[in-house]
Amino acid sequence: MNRIIVTGGLGYIGSHTIVELKDSYDEFVIIDNLSNSEESVVERLRTLTKKSILHFNISINDELELDRIFQSITPKHVIHFAGLKSVKDSEEKPYEYFLTNVAGTASLLNSLSKHQCENFIFSSSATVYGEPKYLPYDENHPTIPINNYGRTKLAAEQLINQWATLNKVSSLSLRYFNPVGAHSSGMIGEKPVGVPNNLMPYILEVISGKLKCLKVFGDDYNTKDGTGERDYIHITDLARAHVAALNYSKSNRANDVINIGTGNSISVMEIIDTFKNSLSIKFEYDIVSRRPGDLPKYFAGTDKARKLLKWKAESTVLDMCRDSLNWQKHYNKL
Ligand code: NAD
Ligand code: UD1
Repeated sequence: MNRIIVTGGLGYIGSHTIVELKDSYDEFVIIDNLSNSEESVVERLRTLTKKSILHFNISINDELELDRIFQSITPKHVIHFAGLKSVKDSEEKPYEYFLTNVAGTASLLNSLSKHQCENFIFSSSATVYGEPKYLPYDENHPTIPINNYGRTKLAAEQLINQWATLNKVSSLSLRYFNPVGAHSSGMIGEKPVGVPNNLMPYILEVISGKLKCLKVFGDDYNTKDGTGERDYIHITDLARAHVAALNYSKSNRANDVINIGTGNSISVMEIIDTFKNSLSIKFEYDIVSRRPGDLPKYFAGTDKARKLLKWKAESTVLDMCRDSLNWQKHYNKL
């Protein structure tokens, strides 16, 4: 059986990646404790992939349960998405963040080393870089994260590097920039719990009427129009980067980190204008003071991804906004 283990596979990035991997595997084995996702995604993935989807509702911290699963399902190929991802929460609950993102990763790795894992892909983040010493961030940029979330991601990368070397596993840590958008079917997407912190989910809730007004955090940065600039990447492009990463990891003995972004930076105002001018969606916004801890601008150096993975992002900002909106329309009906 050609199968892959996907931790956190019911979440935003994991679910989209499974859809893009549908032609590469016959069975997807998802390990997800539903702490930030819903069981109903399993059925939607079955519809979208027409493949076997198995879900184990367990935590990556539960090594005994992982061992039990891997005794009957050899984890030859693994993508590890499971984790906590809010910068704000990581400052308020550092223990929880280290427990899941670092100890959880250690528990998973320890179990995998007993069960013939060959390829391992990890969801890391551009947050590991911290204050830009230069831009674009390339993979050799110093890694001095400025928040606990980033520290947990960097610690997990380092653990994976050592584990992969010791166990002769091919491993890649992918440093994602800012994923946005949703699958073009509108059946899966990002579903934040509570008031969203990130720009796109916040805008979607303003458009749907759940929130009244977008707060634009600062228009006095040294950027093209004064608002913050980021490297937004369509979730389908990001998901496809995993297909390329698995192919690369299988045919090369890798142990590396690779940025996954577009290489372009887009401002908050450009996103607002795309909704207004290209999609005829207007919503209220207010310019407020800067959000503490925010960087003015950052974007990815993409040479390594292009060279090694033979992958590059294809979607436009309009695709990102349109598909986000399409998901919002479906999501409101779920
Ligand atoms: P998500 O919250 O939508 O998905 C994570 C999934 O992991 C959820 O389904 C959740 O239920 C599950 N999970 C959490 N803790 C678990 C545990 N202990 N055991 C088993 N399952 C657990 O997040 P996402 O946006 O899909 O992000 C996936 C990964 O990518 C995360 O590791 C995140 O840190 C990383 N990442 C995300 C972004 C982003 O902007 N979304 C950016 C950079 C990196
Ligand atoms: C945040 C995280 C980062 C994580 C990324 C995931 C922080 C400090 N960083 O980054 O670690 O990898 O999310 O995608 O939280 N903005 C507004 N109003 C809002 C929300 C955001 O103006 O209501 C602006 C921000 O100031 C920023 C841009 O929109 O300029 C993007 O913000 P956001 O989506 O939160 O992403 P990051 O700040 O890049």
